[in-house]
Amino acid sequence: MSRCIAIDGPAASGKSSIAKRIAERMNLAYVNTGSLYRAVALAALRAGRSLAALDRSFLDTLKLEYVESAPGVWELKLNGEFPGAALRTPEVAAGASLVAGQPAVRDYLLDVQRGFAGKRYIVMEGRDIGTVIFPDADFKFFVTASPEERARRRLAQSGETPDGATLAEVAREIAARDKQDSERTVAPLKPAPDAELIDTTGMTLDQAVETVYGRIAAKSGKK
Ligand code: CDP
Ligand code: CDP
Repeated sequence: MSRCIAIDGPAASGKSSIAKRIAERMNLAYVNTGSLYRAVALAALRAGRSLAALDRSFLDTLKLEYVESAPGVWELKLNGEFPGAALRTPEVAAGASLVAGQPAVRDYLLDVQRGFAGKRYIVMEGRDIGTVIFPDADFKFFVTASPEERARRRLAQSGETPDGATLAEVAREIAARDKQDSERTVAPLKPAPDAELIDTTGMTLDQAVETVYGRIAAKSGKK
């Protein structure tokens, strides 16, 4: 079994916030795997590469690390620098979903992600952690919320949507990304058969974190 707490789910379901809080509470490393796809898209955009066909020789020039930038704060480093807010623009989000459908990108990031695991538990969050990256993870969650609720959450996050965006526009962007992520042939977004499903539509973030933490504690007690 892999020492991994896998948290998968669609955009704005709350997986990064939950994963971050669980990692803090359990004093574990945390990896937001969406930031890896975003970093590949950002690097390709900066290099003037077509996002539609990235090859392994370009990918092998990238250096992707996950480091503790301050106590308990885990952040991605791209080619030795923290890209920070540049990863969260709508252009990079759409680019990430585009590059994520390419087998060359997924093969490359599979090795990068497995390389983050070690002797200690790790909290990893994304779309295919419980299905492809660590199918034998000790703990698997699939976090969802209704499309309307996810659009509301994303709109409320500053810097993640274009200035003046409406709820309907954000909902459309999320729906397009859900569709692209769920329908791709490689590693589509779907719950692992043995994942615990958590619908957070009517929950506050605190309640969602308590639900996930409670299940981890209950299952660990049983082992
Ligand atoms: O990582 P993902 O895109 O799934 O979502 P996120 O960036 O963690 O969360 C989107 C926003 O929803 C954040 O501002 C959270 O505080 C908020 N939220 C949540 O994550 N869970 C709830 N149950 C309620 C709100
Ligand atoms: O924060 P949000 O949920 O909106 O997106 P993200 O987790 O940062 O992921 C950005 C994009 O990367 C997603 O739309 C997916 O296409 C892709 N991704 C993936 O394919 N597999 C993962 N494990 C994580 C992200």
